[in-house]
Amino acid sequence: MNQKIGLFDSGIGGLSILHELLKIMPNEDYYYYQDTFHNPYGNKSESELLKISQEIVEILLKKGCKIIVIACNTATTACMSQLRELYPDVIFVGTVPAIKVCYDYHSNHSILLSTPYTTKSKRVQELLELYTDDNHEIINVSGEDLAHLIEEDDKEGINQLLIKILSPYLGKVDSLIMGCTHYSLIKKEILEVLPAIQLFDGSNGVAREVFHQLEKNHLLKSSLEPGKVEIYNNKSNYIIDRSYEILNHMDNEDIQ
Ligand code: DGL
Repeated sequence: MNQKIGLFDSGIGGLSILHELLKIMPNEDYYYYQDTFHNPYGNKSESELLKISQEIVEILLKKGCKIIVIACNTATTACMSQLRELYPDVIFVGTVPAIKVCYDYHSNHSILLSTPYTTKSKRVQELLELYTDDNHEIINVSGEDLAHLIEEDDKEGINQLLIKILSPYLGKVDSLIMGCTHYSLIKKEILEVLPAIQLFDGSNGVAREVFHQLEKNHLLKSSLEPGKVEIYNNKSNYIIDRSYEILNHMDNEDIQ
């Protein structure tokens, strides 16, 4: 019986989505596959990303997942449509940068910060075409190696790279769209370089879409008992421990 909500990402970035899922559906069971071994995804090709994603989908299906959340903008923009074709019976929910939300919010000058792959992806080009006009400018910026530095917990490297990438826009933008789930884990650091801007994070929207898909397909868990969260990391158990710490930290920030 397929019972779990499966997630995957190139490491800890998917925690931002798992955290939102747990807020909406604390009673569900989760299996989160962290592919730190292949991190970063952002400098890989479409065929590499498809091969990696397909292998993980097979694992998640064997683990008994009833829905698969691609908790990664890079893998979503690269191969979500191919995965849907390859597995027509599987429900996939992907992650794309919250460009439309930013547009609807009437932000005038925004940065879209995403991985090298996502920055150039067809999906993002399409969204930018749809949701930019004379009053809504979105500057498409590559986060370069940022996701890898976040995965490595390299605080010094993160701060230096953020200053290099973002400081040219100080005073010139009013918002930033998080185009990579890893970046949701460094909101504080981003705001230190670009204070007082609005951040658009699609994690909550992804979680609501998962709820909607489960409800529509009559797959919501009926028991209201708290569910189980399993995290698997294919590189190091240390990252699993760190992940639970990050989740707890996110909970505490929500309470304040
Ligand atoms: N967290 C992922 C994303 O949202 C991938 C980051 C990476 O490995 O480059 O794009």
